Amino acid sequence: GKGVVVTESLGEARATVKRYLSGAAFGAAGTTCVIEEGMNGPELSLFALCDGTRAELFACAQDHKRVGDGDTGPNTGGMGAYSPVGLVTGDLESEIMQIAIEPTLRELAARGAEYRGVFYCGLMLTEDGPRVVEYNVRFGDPECQIHMRRLDSDLYAHLHECAIGALRTPARFSNDAAAIVMLAADGYPATPVVGNAIRGLDKAAQHQDVVVFHSGTRRNGDDIVTNGGRVVGVTATGGDLTIARDRTYGAISEISFDGMHYRRDIGIGGLEPT
Ligand code: GLY
Repeated sequence: GKGVVVTESLGEARATVKRYLSGAAFGAAGTTCVIEEGMNGPELSLFALCDGTRAELFACAQDHKRVGDGDTGPNTGGMGAYSPVGLVTGDLESEIMQIAIEPTLRELAARGAEYRGVFYCGLMLTEDGPRVVEYNVRFGDPECQIHMRRLDSDLYAHLHECAIGALRTPARFSNDAAAIVMLAADGYPATPVVGNAIRGLDKAAQHQDVVVFHSGTRRNGDDIVTNGGRVVGVTATGGDLTIARDRTYGAISEISFDGMHYRRDIGIGGLEPT
């Protein structure tokens, strides 16, 4: 996520570590260095529901962490996502449940920390198979927004089953595809500029099957203004990913604010070759 630097060479890695541990970049937080294996491949976010002892797959999505098109520039909290993810088969989902989610849940229970709720596994699909990058105990942002656009069953009922330790109802999703593109503030991810008026939100929301989710915004008189790095997430659904993407980008064409930037290639990797 934000703050992570994925380096391409040893020199770049050394320079980054020096800068991060200088004390100037992160204050007291910049005194510990975690070096991890570099993992290449498409990334995948898998979400499971857990009731303390059992886990059920909820859904997968593909996030895009780098700020720039073609996966360039620094990491962000996520610049856009789509679901379902064509390259994920039922076998791969089962494998991830078996090698990652289920053993982790068992270990948590063995340590007296039975986990109930949403379990978010961030993975890289490497040539050597799926590798876990991180776990979160929440939905992802922006993955959650597209799951909510496709979820046909009752989220409250699923979470209630988690909470009472009686998970039994599988989540049901529409066959539609959904895409989200985050519109980011000038300077994001380093130093986002706040207070810029946002135009065109109402027009965008009138586009077919589009919902605009607010993130880093606030009211200022009659205006909605930027108030964070990731400003709004524009989502659309459609019969396939091409339609969902076209609707998303069509709605985005209505929105503008000073310094607005976003990725033009969200979901391109998930399109069928033509
Ligand atoms: N999309 C990344 C996260 O929510 O952490």
